Amino acid sequence: MKKLQLQVNLTSYSSENELPEAEQKLVQQAKEATYKSYAPYSNFHVGAALLLEDGNIITANNQENAAFPSGSCAERSAIFWAGANYPDIKIKSIAVLARPGEGSVFQPVSPCGNCRQSMLEYEHRQKEPIRLLMLQPGGGIIATESIADLLPVKFDADDLFGK
Ligand code: THU
Repeated sequence: MKKLQLQVNLTSYSSENELPEAEQKLVQQAKEATYKSYAPYSNFHVGAALLLEDGNIITANNQENAAFPSGSCAERSAIFWAGANYPDIKIKSIAVLARPGEGSVFQPVSPCGNCRQSMLEYEHRQKEPIRLLMLQPGGGIIATESIADLLPVKFDADDLFGK
């Protein structure tokens, strides 16, 4: 028996201004998307923004339901919309963040397991990693260079069909 360790690579930016301009805009649009979320049950407004390779940005937010599991997280709302409407355009980056309550204070949110798995599917589909941007506790931004970084022991189509 031997113990193994997995390494996850994260990049820390002390301020949003350190990001490339297109990603600064992406974070801004994720913030704006929180104001259109439908979160009457949790009051936890999540915004997600996707930067496509053609420069377009897609935004979405969480959409809750009285039957709780029927709701959708912001990241899945956004990525499914992209998959449905721009199937041949690659996704470069995704920004995700939350705004709890009615104020305008933003806080970090790290994608739930379900969203990680869903985003992984599109990374696999486009055969190119997707950068994920999250707010960093205390300020700034944390980035991973791929969704797979957040699912180190992952399951995707390669496991299903063999590589
Ligand atoms: N939520 C997201 O939209 N994304 C996540 O990655 C975590 C959770 C939403 C789901 C629900 O509407 C609310 O946040 C509270 O869990």
